[in-house]
Amino acid sequence: MEKKIEIKKTIFSGIQPSGNLNIGNYIGAISQWVKMQEKYNCIFSIVDYHAITVKQSPEELRRRIIEVVKIYLAAGIDPNKSIIFQQSAVAAHTELAWILNCYGARIADLNKMTQFKDKAGENQESVSVGLYDYPVLMAADILLYNTEIVPVGEDQKQHVELARDIAKRFNNEFGETFLIPQAVIKQEGARIMSLLDPKKKMSKSDSNQNNCIGLLDDIEVARKKIMRAVTDSGSEIEYDLEDKPALSNLLTIYAQLGTREIPRLVKDYRGKGYGDFKKDLADVVVKFLTDFQKKYNKISDDKVIKILEAGRKKVEKLASAKMEKVRQVIGVR
Ligand code: AMP
Ligand code: TRP
Repeated sequence: MEKKIEIKKTIFSGIQPSGNLNIGNYIGAISQWVKMQEKYNCIFSIVDYHAITVKQSPEELRRRIIEVVKIYLAAGIDPNKSIIFQQSAVAAHTELAWILNCYGARIADLNKMTQFKDKAGENQESVSVGLYDYPVLMAADILLYNTEIVPVGEDQKQHVELARDIAKRFNNEFGETFLIPQAVIKQEGARIMSLLDPKKKMSKSDSNQNNCIGLLDDIEVARKKIMRAVTDSGSEIEYDLEDKPALSNLLTIYAQLGTREIPRLVKDYRGKGYGDFKKDLADVVVKFLTDFQKKYNKISDDKVIKILEAGRKKVEKLASAKMEKVRQVIGVR
């Protein structure tokens, strides 16, 4: 019988060790990674060099790097199936970013990045060059590993598009060097909104953490945050992004962390009020967080350090091979 050799596609994604990871990160990104582990070669990074594009306290950064690994593991990323590694441990990322800065990335592209505009706000002249160049480092992360699929939340789509453009430009000039990656974005839950303002994304860098449910939040604090979440006018539990943005967001969270889908929830809550709905949603969130934190608390720092070292070794090999090729085609070797 002919043996079928299946070549798995590579997926790459990462999260910055900054701020408190929240249910938006889990629903939009990590939960879809967990499902992808069976089918793909998965590489998940803790992108610490992205985190330093804004000021970080060294002690806090060191602690959060470990914390993010534990969150990956508690969420179900299995180090026997997927590679988990720390971006700064593999120098090829910043080296390739520099080369892509010179070949492929253009000022005009970076000027279009909405995340930069949002983050820099009025201070565009005084923020770090790193914050501006951040999407090029992200392109390097992705292109180093022949990544085909990049599972991220909606807000990262523009950055993945830029990585595609950079790869195409580089390939045009130097011949086929990089695969062209594609963003994969969940249909539901790709953009979890703030609990107090459904027009704003739930963000781990938000200065008001009442907007977010942190994955490591105290359980009773999380319950209170849900009970205080804003709702819309009217009293029906409906999914309608135009007229009921707050309710729609809460329904999405309910469906994503619980076991019932949105149409089912809408049916089950017909005739009931916002109060009942929020009380039940709080129970679902509390159950999710309790289970999650139980797993999280069992993971030791030692285990994390071993996993990161094993991951570093694996990606180092892949990254060096790609860098050798890149250095040759551009003529520095
Ligand atoms: P960040 O918090 O910017 O480091 O994002 C890490 C990952 O979580 C990225 O894939 C984001 O797109 C995703 N993400 C962040 N915030 C949200 C949100 N509110 N809803 C859905 N996905 C999110
Ligand atoms: N910029 C991403 C974010 O803030 C994190 C990130 C860095 C990333 N490099 C990546 C995501 C490569 C996917 C692929 O969410």
